[in-house]
Amino acid sequence: MTTIGILGAGQAGTTLARVATAAGYDVVIANSRGPETLQRLVKDLGPRARAAYAAEAAAAADFAVTAFPYAPGDRLPVQELAGKVVIDNNNYMVWRDGNFPDVDAGLKTIHELRQEQLPASKVVKAFNHVQFHERFHLRVPSDALPAIIRLARPAGAPDRKALAVSSDYPEAVELVTRFYDDLGFDAVDNSPLSESWRSSPGTPMWRHHVDGQSREELIRNLQRAQRSVIAAAAQAKGPSPA
Ligand SMILES: NC(=O)c1ccc[n+]([C@@H]2O[C@H](COP(=O)([O-])OP(=O)(O)OC[C@H]3O[C@@H](n4cnc5c(N)ncnc54)[C@H](OP(=O)(O)O)[C@@H]3O)[C@@H](O)[C@H]2O)c1
Repeated sequence: MTTIGILGAGQAGTTLARVATAAGYDVVIANSRGPETLQRLVKDLGPRARAAYAAEAAAAADFAVTAFPYAPGDRLPVQELAGKVVIDNNNYMVWRDGNFPDVDAGLKTIHELRQEQLPASKVVKAFNHVQFHERFHLRVPSDALPAIIRLARPAGAPDRKALAVSSDYPEAVELVTRFYDDLGFDAVDNSPLSESWRSSPGTPMWRHHVDGQSREELIRNLQRAQRSVIAAAAQAKGPSPA
């Protein structure tokens, strides 16, 4: 049985835990405080989930997820994550995170900065452009479901959607491709991490985080991305959906 260490128990971490346990994965979930604050959540998630401190979740993990924004001073279980694939689903947003000059100047991506924090891990950007939270503006009642649940389809379904994945490690891309498939999505490889700006807020592919896009549409949209546009989007003052 594969165990995922999910660091971050907000909207993204808890919804990812929900779909992963439903797909047969075991989950150890942590926040920045302690497992006693997550008892209600793990009760809801069922027997495949337990709560732990972040270092314990990282140690128990076959692979891990950092489901919280990047910050230079992040306290991370670097040793416990060494050698492991670490999925980073963060989106850089200045209104929330502050400015990172190297990212603003296009010299690095926010995920390369996460890789620098975890030098012995295999960081992979994934799950950043799919909605984990419920929607408030509904067209039909099923719109309320997070897109990661609402858009999931079996392999081969004609309306299956695709999600992007970027890493400097091919084995991390392979792992995420299988994980996406298990959760009901195709994958498009947008490696290496230095290219991951193409899936940032403000890009053509980003605009489909609610309704999703096919593999062909995602490939096309990644190619259409312009770096000058994402810099402006990151600086936007107000909250965006993810
Ligand atoms: N929400 C979405 O639909 C969505 C979609 C795509 C991508 N994302 C990305 O996913 C990330 C999380 O978003 P969110 O909406 O879930 O945020 P959130 O609701 O603010 O949750 C963040 C979680 O991370 C925990 N955390 C912070 N630092 C930690 C650390 N060092 N170790 C372990 N846990 C830590 C927090 O714990 P405490 O509560 O104890 O502080 C909290 O549980 C963001 O980077 C966002 O850009 C979100």
